[in-house]
Amino acid sequence: MPHRFLVTRRIPQAGLDRLTAAGEVIVNPHDRGLTRQELLDLGGNADGWLTMLTDVIDASVIQACPKLRGIANYAVGFNNIDLAACTKNNIGVSNTPDVLTDATAEIAFALMLATARRVVEADAFLRSGQWSGWAPLQFLGVGICGKTLGIIGAGRIGTRVAEMASGFRMRIVYSSRSRKPELERCTGAIYMALENMLSQSDFVSLHSPLTPETQHLIGARQLQMMKSRAILINTARGALVDEAALINALREKRIGAAGLDVFEHEPKISSELGALKNVVLLPHIGSGTEETRSRMAVIAAENLIAMVEGRMPANPVNQATHNRTKNAK
Ligand code: NAP
Ligand code: GLV
Ligand code: GLV
Repeated sequence: MPHRFLVTRRIPQAGLDRLTAAGEVIVNPHDRGLTRQELLDLGGNADGWLTMLTDVIDASVIQACPKLRGIANYAVGFNNIDLAACTKNNIGVSNTPDVLTDATAEIAFALMLATARRVVEADAFLRSGQWSGWAPLQFLGVGICGKTLGIIGAGRIGTRVAEMASGFRMRIVYSSRSRKPELERCTGAIYMALENMLSQSDFVSLHSPLTPETQHLIGARQLQMMKSRAILINTARGALVDEAALINALREKRIGAAGLDVFEHEPKISSELGALKNVVLLPHIGSGTEETRSRMAVIAAENLIAMVEGRMPANPVNQATHNRTKNAK
């Protein structure tokens, strides 16, 4: 029997070509995410799923699919998947790290520049026909060069943002689970406790995964500790921030601005957030370059093929894949 793969949303062709060469491929025919029932109907018989960060893969989905051997998430984050349930059922899970590090760090920087220099607001003003010429007090923002950048979660993307920030002569402070001597050596970054970091930073950029420990890492109390003109950037996961508390802080000008690529209840965006001038909002496009999405497709496909063939994928995120490799030997 050939391997059967479900791809839950159309991805770049290079990834589909890899899968087609290794088995039968079903691709979600709709230009939208699958409902839970559609996922089970289309994928119930598959050996492997190539999933999106928008697919909720919980224990009940896992239990309904006894044939499933591997899930390759088309993302580096995997908070949409119940890892414990997968491991318990000996289903391997993989992600797509590294290839999206530059692209996501670029979006963090795009948001920093756009919020600090009011790029989006100024563009809208010009297009509306209101511009009557250069003026000394028009759209004054704040600069980035020489300011203090606080990075929360100094992993692959956080580290790349710090490297980019060095080019802007920024002072870098960071908090993470562990110290990063190499980051400190290369960028002069200073490790500190979250509270300390928040009170010193002109910009705060989030780069940790969403886990039970990091949910609402930034709430009302933390926002209160930030400088009154500080700018919060979130390209990680929406639920790292208590969005209601953020909206209050922005509305009351207790912080300066926010640049967000991710939202607590995406794709639902609160109308209050949309009404604020001191925010720049992007539709979760951190990894969205043609070359990155294409590389992610190939990596996810290769990870998936490895897992259904009982081999170790290049990017495992749970223990089941290791177990199966041992069993297959
Ligand atoms: P990574 O290399 O695993 O880095 C995550 C970092 O977060 C690690 O350094 C880790 O610290 C730190 N961390 C973990 N728990 C923490 C906690 N409780 N408090 C503070 N720091 C904590 O992951 P990555 O590749 O940089 O990706 C980071 C996240 O970005 C992903 O999980 C994903 O959710 C998000 N993302 C979003 C987009 C987008 O489109 N907007 C694109 C790509 C990724 P240690 O190293 O000390 O363990
Ligand atoms: C995107 O959000 C990712 O985690 O890759
Ligand atoms: C601005 O355009 C300047 O020349 O200073």
